[in-house]
Amino acid sequence: TLSESFAEPQGDGGETRQVAGGDVAVLTTSQGVPVSDDQNSLKQGARGPALLEDFHFREKMFHFDHERIPERVVHARGYGAHGYFELTESLGDITRADIFQRVGEKTEAFVRFSTVAGSKGSADLARDVRGFAVKLYTKEGNWDLVGNNIPVFFIQDAMKFPDLIHAAKPEPDRAFPQAQTAHDNFWDFISLSPESMHMVMWIMSDRTIPRSFRFMEGFGVHTFRLVDADGKSTFVKFHWKPKLGLQSVAWNEAVKINGADPDFHRRDLWAAIEAGDFPEWELGVQLFDQEFADKFDFDVLDATKIIPEELVPVRIVGRLVLDRLVDNFFAETEQVAFCTQNVVPGIDFTNDPLLQGRNFSYLDTQLKRLGSPNFTHIPINAPRCPFAHFQQDGHMAMRNPVGRANYEPNSWGPSQGGPREDPTRGFRSFEEAPDGDKLRIRPESFADHYSQARQFYMSQTPIERKHIGDALVFELSKVERPDIRSRMVSHLRNIDENLAATVAKGLGLEMPKPAQAARPTMEDLAPS
Ligand code: HEM
Repeated sequence: TLSESFAEPQGDGGETRQVAGGDVAVLTTSQGVPVSDDQNSLKQGARGPALLEDFHFREKMFHFDHERIPERVVHARGYGAHGYFELTESLGDITRADIFQRVGEKTEAFVRFSTVAGSKGSADLARDVRGFAVKLYTKEGNWDLVGNNIPVFFIQDAMKFPDLIHAAKPEPDRAFPQAQTAHDNFWDFISLSPESMHMVMWIMSDRTIPRSFRFMEGFGVHTFRLVDADGKSTFVKFHWKPKLGLQSVAWNEAVKINGADPDFHRRDLWAAIEAGDFPEWELGVQLFDQEFADKFDFDVLDATKIIPEELVPVRIVGRLVLDRLVDNFFAETEQVAFCTQNVVPGIDFTNDPLLQGRNFSYLDTQLKRLGSPNFTHIPINAPRCPFAHFQQDGHMAMRNPVGRANYEPNSWGPSQGGPREDPTRGFRSFEEAPDGDKLRIRPESFADHYSQARQFYMSQTPIERKHIGDALVFELSKVERPDIRSRMVSHLRNIDENLAATVAKGLGLEMPKPAQAARPTMEDLAPS
């Protein structure tokens, strides 16, 4: 009985003990010392004080006390799996990227899906953007395609990212709402940022409540470059298309599922892979050159715009299959570090000001989150191809340079001198002429915030349009300040008059004038 097991000090071979022997391994400390008793701390007398000498207790508790690391500042809640990418059509004439050369060749991959705004413990079916981050362990280094399930973004310049996320996350005084866009700060920021209107249409649509990760598209969002062996560049937009098709749930279903099973999406992914029902996506590319880009009436460097698929069809070049669960969530899914600046020879950036800012942000945050510049030594982040460099030391260094030389140039022979640069195979940045003077300015080509928002809304079926209207009414009804609600409706008038009228009616508002300025005026900024 309970009282008997308390009465008898354990450690005397009683039948309640689970002991090593046969196939059961011996429990040890982290120094490898076999443990005789993992149930009781060392005391002076059976009822006496605990002793400082108890190194097993202190080591166990010390390690437990330090188990938590900071959650990701965004995309904190996520779920990952291993798999592979298989090339089905060569892009060898367009890029020297090794992964795109040989049809049929497989490249190992790790994918993490996520929500953006909620904390690590938030519910899966939040109305939110989903992250779709793919790490491809290519033969010429790791390529991370850190995308979302929506092809555009809220803002055009990384300078605004901290503001966007502050506004979307719980309000600083009350610390709610958790993982919801339905609050004043979010809509205040959005209504003062007309560039977000295209994204707003997508996030108020059914796209933001996927049925599961397996039914979700993915997008690289930015315009990237593919670069061939001669240094010629082709613009590219990346798309992941789910084999199962695109499916969402309705809002009332999402609310019920979140209540009944907040782990619905992660459970779905785990169960599918465990059952051998491996989720699969096609990789599509939209390819175009500078001459073609110059003909668009928007800027291909503006992440709030898509490249219409009627003008540039999506060409399918490969498939991504997720066929292996993680062994350990923390070691793999939590410690994986994706970064937009992880590109490989043949893939390069453009001057998209959002992408340029992201290239700084990920590495910076990961040093804080994972605690050491050596996070590339963690198996999930390490390249799977041969690698050699002179980086050394720092917290938890596991792969220091071997041998005499840890610098170059050096005059040690081939066996001791370490690795050397390779001008023929090494990564070379695309050579681009500078655009002009050093300025802190938003170009005029980024100014049209409504046309593509309208095109997206018009592309929806009547029931999907109704869902967008319902979502806007629901979300804005949680906003307390009438001027913020009204300012949102004034933007909707520039997208679709019927939508604006529906939302105004749903909120019991007088119809405001259409928003005039692409940037907010001082009048907009004054609280009513
Ligand atoms: C995660 C910054 C825009 C997709 C993150 C993290 C940061 C960040 C700091 C946490 C990374 C970590 O702790 O490992 C930014 C900035 C942006 C931006 C500064 C704009 C200037 C975007 C866009 C996309 C995106 C446009 C989609 C194309 C993701 C994804 C993750 C993430 C998928 C989660 C990666 C994972 O699963 O570990 N972002 N982000 N972000 N971001 Fe962004």
